[in-house]
Amino acid sequence: MHISDLAFLSTIFVLDIMKKHILTTTFTEFADDSELSGSDLELLKSARTAAKNAYAPYSKFHVGAALKLENGIVVIGNNQENAAYPSGLCAERVAIFSAGANYPDFAIDAIAICCITESANGKPFSPCGACRQVLGEYENRSKKPMRIILGGMRGSIYVINSLKDLLPLAFDGDLLKK
Ligand code: THU
Repeated sequence: MHISDLAFLSTIFVLDIMKKHILTTTFTEFADDSELSGSDLELLKSARTAAKNAYAPYSKFHVGAALKLENGIVVIGNNQENAAYPSGLCAERVAIFSAGANYPDFAIDAIAICCITESANGKPFSPCGACRQVLGEYENRSKKPMRIILGGMRGSIYVINSLKDLLPLAFDGDLLKK
């Protein structure tokens, strides 16, 4: 056998044991408020109000979150900054930890998140990785998909049906169960 045949065979072998996975994600874009369902718009409006009350003197990046529990209660949060920067917390986690503390027995159906910023040009912004991880924990806890509504003060809105679409291959807490 010639050396080039060997190289060819080894390439085939490597291709044979490798598995390439392609992950896709899906979300729906709505042009503006008028296209959104009544309940999603109501939740987004609560997030906008929350954003206006954010405490963000350092970044000036005001974020609001509003989540709807299965019992219909809406819990809001906004970013809370601190002179010792890492001591602050994102809006999403303020909201979700508040829901976890006050309504531990109720699943979360949906969360709307929005920011007030000039630079985003009315386009929605996406939550940071740490907040995705935390939202994922509560989606698992709720045992049902959490609908995520991302918007600005105006402009287009993204609706995502589950945290799994925002954080594929997430760290799975089941690994910690003995
Ligand atoms: N922030 C949020 O509230 N949510 C996010 O998902 C990303 C960032 C806040 C944290 C900080 O107060 C400011 O935005 C700038 O990072």
